[in-house]
Amino acid sequence: MSNEQGPSMAGSAAGSAAPLWHGRFDQGPADELWAFTVSLPFDRRLAMDDIAGSRAHVKGLARVGLISAAEEAAVLDALDHVEREMAGGSFTVLGTDEDIHTAVERRVTELAGPPGAKLHTGRSRNDQIATDMRLYTKRELVDVARRVTVLQRTLLNRSKEAGETYVPGYTHLQRAQPVLLAHHLLAHGWALFRDVDRLLDCRRRADVSPLGAGALAGSSLPLDPRFTANELDFARVFDNSLDAVSDRDFVAEALFCCTLLAVHLSRIAEEVVIWSSEEVGFLRLDDRYSTGSSMMPQKKNPDIAELTRAKAARLIGHLTGLLAMLKGLPLAYNRDLQEDKEPLFDAVDQLKLALSAMNGLLETSRFDRKRMEAAADSPYLAATDLAEWLVQAGTPFRDAHALVGSLVRDSLERNVPLPELVAAHPALGDAAAALCAPGQAVQRRTSPGAGGPEQVAKQLAKFQKQLDATLTRLQDT
Ligand code: ARG
Repeated sequence: MSNEQGPSMAGSAAGSAAPLWHGRFDQGPADELWAFTVSLPFDRRLAMDDIAGSRAHVKGLARVGLISAAEEAAVLDALDHVEREMAGGSFTVLGTDEDIHTAVERRVTELAGPPGAKLHTGRSRNDQIATDMRLYTKRELVDVARRVTVLQRTLLNRSKEAGETYVPGYTHLQRAQPVLLAHHLLAHGWALFRDVDRLLDCRRRADVSPLGAGALAGSSLPLDPRFTANELDFARVFDNSLDAVSDRDFVAEALFCCTLLAVHLSRIAEEVVIWSSEEVGFLRLDDRYSTGSSMMPQKKNPDIAELTRAKAARLIGHLTGLLAMLKGLPLAYNRDLQEDKEPLFDAVDQLKLALSAMNGLLETSRFDRKRMEAAADSPYLAATDLAEWLVQAGTPFRDAHALVGSLVRDSLERNVPLPELVAAHPALGDAAAALCAPGQAVQRRTSPGAGGPEQVAKQLAKFQKQLDATLTRLQDT
């Protein structure tokens, strides 16, 4: 997994300095232990969150008198310095920097001198990492949600452009009844509204500060978790220190939200693959959003859509992996929890890439109106309407269904156009046969939420309104 994002850090001196816990140990860690347990390569992307958490913690320590104002200022200055080094790429990692917390604290102490040694007062890496992860998760969920709305905007624009273009609607991948292309595109758009809602809902539950829980049981020092929570813009504070350091529900939930979103993208992608096939030919991909073959000169492939399907599989793996990791853990912190990071980081990264790529693909593809409508104009797609026409004339639906079914069978077996048989049937006739005319069936999809023009116009307006409201909600988050 490539999770090596975050601030670039210069060089790595294979250090011989002692790790954080050296006091109790006669010997330093074995190389194999170090190689296996070190987390800096992936948790370094939490650098800015870790620094923010340390700022809040130091201010909290000063506030309750555990450090002096001068010590507070020295540590805050050093934290600013570290932040600049990290942002500018000049931060030097040492071989003894086990994780991002160690790296930051080590450098702060180098810069600030003795006050730096007070930074970790009343704090454990256990509440620290939980804090960092919640800050990261809160931010990224909103970022993902924003990107979803970009895709929704594209679906809305394409729906508006589509006007009264219609396509066959499918069940079992068999042509069923015609619907407007806009109706089909918006169906995906509505699913994405649920994703945005879920992401923001998940963010709300993640919005709890664990800082002040210590290693597991709180502290004998007069810490003020509410103060640090406010400093970090958390809405709430933990109620139970054991729960605070061992709870990764927010990671599991965030992964679920990301995974379901990826599944929705995958379903769109699957349709792109089908629709852009030569057999179906409803969709033509733009050159910039399709790929060629190294061997077959004629090929134009929907690789973005295919990879989107595969990324959904990858995210499902991350989600199930995380749940399996959590299920056997006794309270409170266990090192297993370190394995929450790479799946979440990767899920967020891959999802963002997929959202952008699929958005570009959908923005630039061209729909083949003729092919879509020709496929939807098969008179068999009016079969339900014929049955419903009989219903309007007083025939019980089950009888109407059987009658039209027998005409369809007849038409297929004897190779006679269905409208001819309909026109000739005493219970039906010319007026009923007219229902089979091209472009007719879609006009009759008139019930609330249906796929005909009248209802889709209402739907477009509602979708637009909901998208505007969602953007406002995101701005306020
Ligand atoms: N790297 C750890 C994690 O990601 C955080 C540090 C806590 N480590 C520890 N040995 N108590 O969960």
